Amino acid sequence: METRLDPWGAVHVEDYTKLFEEFGISSFDDILPYLAEPHRYMRRRIIFGHRNYNAVLAAMRSGRPFAVMSGFMPTGKAHFGHMMVMNEIIWHQQQGGDAFAAVADMEAHSVRGISWKRCRELGIEEYILSLIALGFQPKENSHIYFQSENLDVRDLAFELGIEANFSEVSAIYGFSGETCISHMESVMVQSADILHPQLAKYGGPKPVVIPVGADQDPHIKLTRDLARRMRRFLVERRGGYISVRGKAAGQELMKAAESALLGTGLGEVKRYEEHIDLTDLRLREGQSIDDAQQEIEELIISLETEHGEYGFIPPASTYHRFMTGLTGGKMSSSKPESYIALTEDPKEAAGKILRAITGGRQSLAEQKKLGGEPERCSIYEFLLFHLSEDDRELLELELECRSGRRMCGTCKKDVAERIERFLHDHQQAREAARERLPEFGIRL
Ligand code: TRP
Repeated sequence: METRLDPWGAVHVEDYTKLFEEFGISSFDDILPYLAEPHRYMRRRIIFGHRNYNAVLAAMRSGRPFAVMSGFMPTGKAHFGHMMVMNEIIWHQQQGGDAFAAVADMEAHSVRGISWKRCRELGIEEYILSLIALGFQPKENSHIYFQSENLDVRDLAFELGIEANFSEVSAIYGFSGETCISHMESVMVQSADILHPQLAKYGGPKPVVIPVGADQDPHIKLTRDLARRMRRFLVERRGGYISVRGKAAGQELMKAAESALLGTGLGEVKRYEEHIDLTDLRLREGQSIDDAQQEIEELIISLETEHGEYGFIPPASTYHRFMTGLTGGKMSSSKPESYIALTEDPKEAAGKILRAITGGRQSLAEQKKLGGEPERCSIYEFLLFHLSEDDRELLELELECRSGRRMCGTCKKDVAERIERFLHDHQQAREAARERLPEFGIRL
């Protein structure tokens, strides 16, 4: 990040900052300085927000377990928007995380009426092959799966359904009396997707980040609530002391918590009917009260898991901006001209670029005088998001455009060539990935 003058800060960020205030999403700017090698989406503020990423960051930096998880609904062509999520999963896997990718066939089948057969075809052809081609690695704790085939997820979904009621989910998703029950179930399945990396079978509780577009935030919020409700204790700071509330802990668990707290020597332990207080704190050398709270939280989580409980940590999330469609407005699968699919013929894709709406002016003369407007240009976005890895190159292109030295015609040709090359290489990598499907446990 040598450059401070950033061409990527400006693009419609204002709309997104509202999300910070209204919905309690935190700015990713707070995280960025702590990442040794941030992904270009992070450097360029395409990933602009997060919930609780600090926990993931801490695990990443200390070499402790963490995971990344996201899902794809197999309803049609995978495009460059989906590729962002794929790259975010892969980046976190490269940082040492366990990685999970779901093909949301239960959702596609129940909500969109896509047949199981079609879900499977689309899942493999559109999503899984690209995910592998882009660098998803087969590892012990990394899984690509179909929701319908993952019994751990399905069992957990049923269990989570006990903690969510109809009024709550209808307020979030607009369900009505007409909504079919499988649609509602698919919401629990998605929460189970998100939480299942923390099951004992997958290594137990750990920070898990869910990279998504901002529109998916309601799912994240609901799942964070469900995670909390599945806990047996709530560890809270109360001014100068720490309180461990047994929300749904029986006598045995309360007793175990009491002796575990005594064992820490961190302060005076006082047990009440439904909570245990830790007062007169004796912090360790260099330990802050936040650290002490964290230590106790972890202690209580392992206590819960030792007693066969879930001990879930609320999942973290990151939010990325969406790309504008090539025709202006949103990318939409019902408008093929608005997006480029990862399986698109490279020549045809180049054609779409040449026909796309740019941030250019009415006439050549005006463009020379006023310069272009990259922040309104779908072609520039392709460079920003995908086709120029080098920040300095991007900055140069941006300045050339703004100063009226780079004309749309030249630029489009350049980007069309880049996209053609990218798709050609990606599609070759997909064919190599096809041979490797069994390594990921995917049968054809
Ligand atoms: N509902 C998501 C979509 O519409 C897909 C999805 C399923 C998902 N399971 C998930 C996303 C888990 C993130 C995490 O695209």
